[in-house]
Amino acid sequence: MENIQRYTVTAALPYANGPVHIGHLAGCYLPADIYVRFLRAKGREVLFLCGSDEHGVGIAIKAQQEGITPRELIDKYHFIMKNAFHDFGISFDIYSRTSSPIHYETAQEFFSNLYYKNVFEKKISKQYYDTKFNQFLADRYIVGTCPNCAYEKAYGDQCERCGTSLDPIDLINPHSALSGEKPEMRETEHWYLPLQNYQDWLQKWILEEHADWKNNVIGQCRSWLNQGLAARAVTRDLDWGVPVPLADAKGKVLYVWFDAPIGYISATKEWAQQNGKNWEPYWKDAQSKLVHFIGKDNIVFHCVVFPSMLKAHGDFILPDNVPANEFLNIEGDKISTSRNWAVWLHEYLEEFPDKQDTLRYVLCSNAPETKDNDFTWKDFQAKNNNELVAIYGNLVNRVIILTHKYFDGKVPPCDVLNPLEENLAAEIAAFPKIIQDLLESFKLREALQELMNLARAGNKYLTENEPWKTYKDQPERTATVINYGLQLIANLAILSEPFLPFTAVKLKKYLQIENLNWDDAGAMNLLKVGTDISKAEILFEKIEDEAINFQIEKLNAKRPIIENILQTKNIPDLKQNITYDDFSKLDLRIATILEAEQVPKTQKLLKLKINIGLEERTIVSGIAEHYKPEDIIGKQIIVVANLEPRAIKGIDSKGMILMIHDEEKGLIMIQPEKEAADGSQII
Ligand code: MF3
Ligand code: ZN
Repeated sequence: MENIQRYTVTAALPYANGPVHIGHLAGCYLPADIYVRFLRAKGREVLFLCGSDEHGVGIAIKAQQEGITPRELIDKYHFIMKNAFHDFGISFDIYSRTSSPIHYETAQEFFSNLYYKNVFEKKISKQYYDTKFNQFLADRYIVGTCPNCAYEKAYGDQCERCGTSLDPIDLINPHSALSGEKPEMRETEHWYLPLQNYQDWLQKWILEEHADWKNNVIGQCRSWLNQGLAARAVTRDLDWGVPVPLADAKGKVLYVWFDAPIGYISATKEWAQQNGKNWEPYWKDAQSKLVHFIGKDNIVFHCVVFPSMLKAHGDFILPDNVPANEFLNIEGDKISTSRNWAVWLHEYLEEFPDKQDTLRYVLCSNAPETKDNDFTWKDFQAKNNNELVAIYGNLVNRVIILTHKYFDGKVPPCDVLNPLEENLAAEIAAFPKIIQDLLESFKLREALQELMNLARAGNKYLTENEPWKTYKDQPERTATVINYGLQLIANLAILSEPFLPFTAVKLKKYLQIENLNWDDAGAMNLLKVGTDISKAEILFEKIEDEAINFQIEKLNAKRPIIENILQTKNIPDLKQNITYDDFSKLDLRIATILEAEQVPKTQKLLKLKINIGLEERTIVSGIAEHYKPEDIIGKQIIVVANLEPRAIKGIDSKGMILMIHDEEKGLIMIQPEKEAADGSQII
């Protein structure tokens, strides 16, 4: 017998400091779940691990903001998160937590193991200290201006605007997140993991031996390696975390990024205890494949830091793959918990009950697999209505309804085969392998596309044969077509399971094929003639405009206007007051740009021909560095129509276009919210 391949699959342990949103799902948990469900369907041995990441300064600060203890905070969110994952069918074998005793023990043991092997460097360094709170200011306790992008609220470990990873001393104008005061420098002692010692090995292990990892992952690794790795402190002066297990380390805990990935191992132990299993093969058997699903901000920790820790320890296997996704934005803006710019899973389910698979479908077909991607409610609606309803649901519905209409709800015989059936059978036979290959190379979007192509093939087959028309004259031929239609949706049910598990369960039940699995798919004899097919409910319902508009309005109500205003620097002072008469002297009109061309030998000037209703005019405008001629033709603009004509570069310019001057983005065109008649006045 062939040895069953064993997989240890992890999904990044999310910080227990807020509920789960669609960005989490799309970036990490959904792809991990699809992959794991596929492996299980193939009959492979899989352990799917996750849990809450409950340490770190982020948690301590959030607790402080909410006026509760870190313990209370993590207890609150751990269960909210666990339930949200469960509700969306994310099929973890265990959802553990890093505050568990078994994790403390495992993380401390791991540290001690490296400590006694003399892996760490012990160094004294100067670090910021808050004299009011009598505390060292690690990571997010220190806030200041990013040296890279000038963002004023960058953290000591990372700038959330530009993503640069930072050291507290890099920050310009640092201040304490606790007291807001300027901190003092004090000496402290910490243990460092000397990553530089692993540089050569990592170089070879990643860039040569794992050159097949996703491009975005390899790209980040290469850039880290090119910069040259340096020692990183693995301990912190904090009172929230796993205590450093050394006598001379009072008041020190393990750095959250040291303890959290060890959480994968602790979770495995906990699972094994609960299920009477042995945890070790999942981490120690060289035949086991370790796969880490993560978001792109975790790449360095899973490709460089944790592998170095595992390598230093020596008893454990190393990751076989780290399929990281990029980020999902919402309606063009970065998701932000603090600004409440998010679609929360628990709210989604309240507003779209039982529509887990719709969200899973949209997030997978739009997953930020190779680059950041955007979620919009309109696209969500379109994908539901035009794909799930019109292609998938429609196929299933038609086939099952016809089975009941003509064949008493039983699978009819297929005695009159044409070449069409042979072609269809050949086409379908190829799908399991096509989808499998894509899933195994982490191309989940394409895999889902192929699943829909299977449904499309079914719709095409029905349209070609029109069984609803042939029944009267050729009942046997009709029986064959319905049989094939049913066999096709049986294949669809099996292959849908990783992507649309809720739908797959229903469909398998209608067809009585609960026990069929991936390797059964590809055949046209999955359903025995005479089997009863249940009447189907509607699998996917159309989503109406009202529901979508409600979501868009709800989201827009949260648009982070205030923060934008606060972040803008150098807002010009207000000008002197004018009277209403002064204002009414301005003749502002709507106009349309008819032609646009660069003024020769200039950088900034465009010559525009515009229609202001009453006439066509030429205007010279200094917008060439911001707008290309071809991009603005046909656009409506606002013009100061009664500005004294002027000659600019020898061209008579009659009027001026109104523009916004944004400090960062430069000039931005002002346009009417709806199209308006040229020549309309602005009043
Ligand atoms: N909590 C981290 C985050 O949300 C991820 C930790 S992954 C682990 O970015 F490997 F450390 F567990
Ligand atoms: Zn920055």
